[in-house]
Amino acid sequence: MEKADIGLYGLAVMGSNLALNIAEKGYRVAVSNRTASKIDEFVAGAGDLAGQLVPNADLGAFVASIKRPRSIIIMVKAGKPVDLTIQALLPHLEKGDAIIEAGNANYRDSVRRYDELTPKGIGFLGIGVSGGEEGARHGPSIMVGGSREQWHNAEKVLTDIAAKYDGEPCCAYLGPGGAGHFVKTIHNGIEYADMQMIAEIYGIMRDGMGMSPLACAEVFKSWNAGPLSSYLIEITGLVLEAVDEKTGKPLVELILDKAGQKGTGRWSAIAAQELGVAATTIEGAVAARSLSAIKEQRVAASAIYDSVPVEKCSATLEQLEHALLAGKIAAYAQGFAVLSKASEENGWDLPLGTIARIWRAGCIIRSRFLDQMASSYEKDDAVNLMVAPDFVRIMEANNGALRRVVADGALAGSPMPCLGAALAYFDGYRQAQGTANLIQGQRDFFGAHGFILTDREGEQHGDWPPTLETD
Ligand SMILES: NC(=O)c1ccc[n+]([C@@H]2O[C@H](COP(=O)([O-])OP(=O)(O)OC[C@H]3O[C@@H](n4cnc5c(N)ncnc54)[C@H](OP(=O)(O)O)[C@@H]3O)[C@@H](O)[C@H]2O)c1
Repeated sequence: MEKADIGLYGLAVMGSNLALNIAEKGYRVAVSNRTASKIDEFVAGAGDLAGQLVPNADLGAFVASIKRPRSIIIMVKAGKPVDLTIQALLPHLEKGDAIIEAGNANYRDSVRRYDELTPKGIGFLGIGVSGGEEGARHGPSIMVGGSREQWHNAEKVLTDIAAKYDGEPCCAYLGPGGAGHFVKTIHNGIEYADMQMIAEIYGIMRDGMGMSPLACAEVFKSWNAGPLSSYLIEITGLVLEAVDEKTGKPLVELILDKAGQKGTGRWSAIAAQELGVAATTIEGAVAARSLSAIKEQRVAASAIYDSVPVEKCSATLEQLEHALLAGKIAAYAQGFAVLSKASEENGWDLPLGTIARIWRAGCIIRSRFLDQMASSYEKDDAVNLMVAPDFVRIMEANNGALRRVVADGALAGSPMPCLGAALAYFDGYRQAQGTANLIQGQRDFFGAHGFILTDREGEQHGDWPPTLETD
């Protein structure tokens, strides 16, 4: 039998769609899965593409059916299953073969796997794949990290299956070790913030303005034709207009308000904290999901605080649109700032402009203004989007609306953990004289941590008086 061009192990939602995408681009794909019956089911449902598939439940036969040097994509549940799969494949691999790990891995696991496989002569690529089921099938955004040599072996197939933006593939080699998975993690962190900000605007529309889901849907649809145009705004309109067949009610009103999370948002927030980068919109979004999960406590607390007075919302729909735009820019600025610091710390030399370009299509956060962000990093060499000329203009025009909406949210009792964080970031980032001088004074008072005085050299200490407690 003719050998396969590439192998793919793991035939759940993502793996099976990715395999069909690869087959559709004219490649022969060897496929396998832990539960053998899923392989048969997959091939039976592959239609015209079945002829491009080389199925094998036996791992030895699966590996042997792939042309050398072999590239084997692993698309299984993140974490231990990936290590177990690598261990099971290893005895069948030969020097020069490579593993392409495509799940939502923690980037530290990718660094470890790279370090473990390299001395054995086995290449390793950790690739972030975004776009969900649809993206995997018709073109995801692919963020590649690992060995450059292995990238050259896999480049053609990965760029062929990736989404295209104006004909340009949304797939790029971003750096060694865990760089690809780190970028995917931060992509998801930004996704969390973006989704949360949209949900906060929906909250104002629903609770502060008394709008129906259908009325909200119409507004989001109209916004999708303007500067907010993006996949997440588009699907928000579609979710809001969906009707439950059984009851005839708006589906969104029946969906339980507890948000799930699989870890990438939390990893982004942790990475930002570890790197010492302010990524408050991402942190706010993760915390909002955690708060959403304690529904029973929220229900009980709402009864206790039933009489807290709130005001009616006075913001206009136009202000909501502008506030969302300004908030989103702050979230992206924070995400890119995390990438920039991680690149510096890990010696990855991450190409921020390229990252913005490969996020323009295929992935969940794809949007119109990523094109502008790519230019800001590539042409203007921006330090932070907040000070990139294109975005300065947008922030100048829209920060007033963000201020109005966050203030309205506070008065209306509508929580704004993300939009509020975005506003505080904007105000904090542009504040030449902050308030950390007081923090430094406090730190020196109780811990002799020292401070710098602006009119002299070297670290200083205060001659602090005793407090009542230390008397
Ligand atoms: N779903 C999405 O929208 C999406 C988007 C982007 C990235 N991802 C990431 O892509 C990866 C795959 O996602 P998914 O939703 O397609 O699948 P999944 O539900 O995360 O995992 C199911 C797959 O993992 C295999 N598996 C589980 N434990 C295993 C073990 N111990 N040894 C070998 N195989 C094992 C399963 O095999 P069996 O059939 O034998 O159970 C099945 O093939 C994950 O890392 C996920 O986070 C998912």
